[in-house]
Amino acid sequence: MPHAIRFSAYGNTDVLTLAEVPLPEPGEGQVRVRVKAAGVNPLDWKIRKGFLSGGVPLAAPTGTGTELSGVIDALGPGVTSRRVGQAVFGRSADRGAAAAFDLAAADELVGKPDWLSFEQAAALPVAAETAYRALRELGVGAGQSLLIHAAAGGVGLLAAQVARTWGVTVIGTASERNHAFLREIGVTPVAYGQGLADRVRAAAPQGVDAVLDGSGQGVLPASIELTGSPDKVLTIADLAAAEHGVRFSAPSGPLTGGLDELLPLLENGQVRMPIDSVFPLAKTADAHQHSEGGHLRGKIVITVED
Ligand SMILES: NC(=O)c1ccc[n+]([C@@H]2O[C@H](COP(=O)([O-])OP(=O)(O)OC[C@H]3O[C@@H](n4cnc5c(N)ncnc54)[C@H](OP(=O)(O)O)[C@@H]3O)[C@@H](O)[C@H]2O)c1
Repeated sequence: MPHAIRFSAYGNTDVLTLAEVPLPEPGEGQVRVRVKAAGVNPLDWKIRKGFLSGGVPLAAPTGTGTELSGVIDALGPGVTSRRVGQAVFGRSADRGAAAAFDLAAADELVGKPDWLSFEQAAALPVAAETAYRALRELGVGAGQSLLIHAAAGGVGLLAAQVARTWGVTVIGTASERNHAFLREIGVTPVAYGQGLADRVRAAAPQGVDAVLDGSGQGVLPASIELTGSPDKVLTIADLAAAEHGVRFSAPSGPLTGGLDELLPLLENGQVRMPIDSVFPLAKTADAHQHSEGGHLRGKIVITVED
């Protein structure tokens, strides 16, 4: 039987086990993917820890991982847009991407171009959809300046680079070890923590037109102060958004949003998505631990051996 990461109760990384599971059968509109790589997101460990459970215990063993890349292995009823053997990437149908095989809705996948590795492809769907959605909701455009909190994370890096291609000046918060990299991609780095607003004012004397908060670390008051209005601030990570009159942006459409626009930018080198680290499937717990640590550059990816 194939392997998959499973957990039966919410908790620390020790709840994650490498289990033998039945080969999943694709339903109507679904395909089965032989997984090559799965992206790791903070959402994965937030779910594993039960942060989104509303206090209700887990009813049955479940998997982990929202985004995957791999090769289509079987088609479910009604699928005509895909073929067996096609390399694809996109969203897992059941948050079970950390597995040898997983199911996906055929229309939540895109074809993987040859120039993009499976590891790179698995790192893109969540960050790309979120980055484009956040930039559009903020409405930033050429000539404006944007402050991004957590600019070295998966979402922050893509949002920063896409905004640069739109002619936006980007200031990004990150720890010192990521500053040189941020400068390389055209972002003015600023250290987070005490005194943040003053450092941003010094780095951006022309002012800040909009803020994207990807940190969730209590930066909304300073962001409102810097822009002059909560309307110019958007968070994807701070659940206290409403208390500050700030919009919280959550996904509503397919996870493939943004990829059509992003792929040409990746191919021509205008945008890069660094892979922070790669873990084999059996070490998924270590991948979660690293994500939970909160300090990385780009994406964590799990790879699956044939
Ligand atoms: N609402 C949505 O639709 C949505 C979608 C995707 C993600 N999210 C959420 O958005 C957040 C970011 O996601 P992600 O995938 O980009 O995360 P990630 O890749 O894990 O990024 C973590 C980054 O946070 C930075 N960081 C840590 N502490 C910080 C602080 N105090 N101030 C500023 N930056 C800090 C780290 O930078 P250094 O290494 O430089 O310290 C690291 O690069 C997560 O909370 C995630 O759950 C929400």
